[in-house]
Amino acid sequence: MKWNAELYDDKHSFVSQYGESVLELLDIKPGEQILDLGCGTGHLANEIKKHGAEVTAIDASPEMIEKAEKEFPDVNFSVADGANFHINKAFDAVFSNAALHWMHKADDVIKCVYENLKPGGRFVAEMGGKGNMEYMIAATKQVLTKHGYKNLGERKLWYFPSLGEYTSKLEARGFRVTYAIHFDRPTLLQDGRLGVTKWLNMFGDTYFEGIKGGEMQEILSEITDLLEPHYNRDGQWFSDYKRLRFVAIKE
Ligand code: BEZ
Repeated sequence: MKWNAELYDDKHSFVSQYGESVLELLDIKPGEQILDLGCGTGHLANEIKKHGAEVTAIDASPEMIEKAEKEFPDVNFSVADGANFHINKAFDAVFSNAALHWMHKADDVIKCVYENLKPGGRFVAEMGGKGNMEYMIAATKQVLTKHGYKNLGERKLWYFPSLGEYTSKLEARGFRVTYAIHFDRPTLLQDGRLGVTKWLNMFGDTYFEGIKGGEMQEILSEITDLLEPHYNRDGQWFSDYKRLRFVAIKE
């Protein structure tokens, strides 16, 4: 998917704001070698650097990396596939915020993370977990099907595993999972009702490939109507995020 990195920073900065609490879990020590996997526009990689660590940050999106490099020239960024990377450093930790659910080949991702860590190194991450955005996904599917786009509605854009599924994969690779939690985090959508369209434009445009102007507006409006009873709380719209967080140690 092609990312709009400007819009991402402008309207979706909550992604890195929430990620700051995942940084607490990372518990950075000065001088550590840390890899930020799926770094997006680089804000959290820069935070990691500010804690005194040496940071390498990768993302599959050239648009995101281009913006990150401009904004944070002191951080070492590169474009790389999370399911197929090798960096010539042994990392103390691999950190990932809100990125692993874009990486469908989870076993390959976990293998790469394992191979790039030092023995005793840690993998600390947050991602969308099972049930993440299920109202948004169900409403999109329902409306696309009604408009004759059943195939688009059935697209699986993201991988949202259960806690058991992801931690089993980690254990199968040789990690010891020392912390894991799957929790609800209703997330405020900016601009109320319009926030649904903005979220889908930013993250879900693959659902709407080939759909044009007027019909697109109709579809977005119908999706928003279906979500209103679930998302609208006295005029503020909260999406149904469910997060999976874990710490896993390479034994
Ligand atoms: C998430 O952070 O949960 C998420 C972000 C974009 C698309 C899907 C999920």
